[in-house]
Amino acid sequence: MSKKTVEDIEVRGRRVLVRVDFNVPLNRDTGAVGDDSRIRASLPTIRYLVDHKAKVIVCSHLGRPKGEAVEELRMAPIAHRLSQLIGLPVDTAPDCIGEDVKAKADALEEGDMLVLENLRFYPEEEANATDFARELAGLADVYVNDAFGTAHRAHASTVGVAKYLPAVAGFLMAQELEALGRLVHDPERPFACLMGGAKVGDKIGLLQTMLKKADQLLVGGGMVATFLRAQGHEVGRSAIEEDKLSLARDLVEEASRSGVPLHLPPDLLVAEEIRAGAATQAVPATGIPSGSHIVDIGPESIELFRSELRKCRTVIWNGPMGIYEIPEFAEGTRALATTLSTLDATTVIGGGSTAEAVHEMGLTDKMTHVSTGGGASLEFLEGAALPGVEVLLDKD
Ligand code: 3PG
Repeated sequence: MSKKTVEDIEVRGRRVLVRVDFNVPLNRDTGAVGDDSRIRASLPTIRYLVDHKAKVIVCSHLGRPKGEAVEELRMAPIAHRLSQLIGLPVDTAPDCIGEDVKAKADALEEGDMLVLENLRFYPEEEANATDFARELAGLADVYVNDAFGTAHRAHASTVGVAKYLPAVAGFLMAQELEALGRLVHDPERPFACLMGGAKVGDKIGLLQTMLKKADQLLVGGGMVATFLRAQGHEVGRSAIEEDKLSLARDLVEEASRSGVPLHLPPDLLVAEEIRAGAATQAVPATGIPSGSHIVDIGPESIELFRSELRKCRTVIWNGPMGIYEIPEFAEGTRALATTLSTLDATTVIGGGSTAEAVHEMGLTDKMTHVSTGGGASLEFLEGAALPGVEVLLDKD
């Protein structure tokens, strides 16, 4: 990694502003943290700072409060979970900037932790406003960015503060950049990209980049409907993106021109209703009944994708194969997650719903790397420079 990390600077006795991505799901009824994997993922950085006697000021956004204080999006439950996981007291600030917060930050002792209030309660955060960034930076002597999941956003806490403080990467940020960087620059071959998700529109950049980098593409998920329609097939009541039909056609043509196999599922699971308990049937991809929706890939496709994946030395997976939140439509996603977990290969899972499915199945530890960034990992793999990474100090 070409960026300085927390190990390259002196933190002892210094106030360290740590930007993490603790944008985690909260339980709707209790308000408690649901999937805490993003908090766990930043523990090595926070623990390192505590052990090295820094005064640790943790900051993050939570949800999209649109520049206003929203009670349900306060950071208190997150600070509570962090305290449980790290096994130490964690204080919370009433705000993320202002006199009271400054006083709390200045009063921190070595090894203390303070969690600031949700950064996005201020519109200045997303606007990357100079005064807000300066005030945030004024709380600390050093800035550590461990928020890979937010590194694609040029906000005050991910970009603006780096103008005022020495800025380095945390361990999670470094690990993400290493793991994903290897895929972009030097993957062991054969290298496959398994793609899913609802929309071609969300994945255009990745599809185009992977056509150049991977040895084959395997495509499942709701986006298959647009590919099938582009080839003139019936897709029943499945949603298609009219404005992406020609792009889907171009991608298939580009794949055949460049000799990179682009496998679409030969069969699909369809249902007349999208609900738990709905009856399903597997049908050929070219024979989708008019009244049905595509809800998953079919058994023949699972076998085809499995046998292709087993030949690979590197696999990146981004996007579920079907509507996996509904158990009857989850078989494709579950079967391929299991296959990936048993491969003798580098397996990298993009963030967001793919990571969620892998966590739910308890397979996280069986993959080489599960990214904590949804949009960020997508943009990074597409080859974009992430603003939150660009501003960090270079090693040399
Ligand atoms: C995410 O969950 O992908 C990150 O926390 C970024 O959140 P955002 O899409 O609301 O900027």
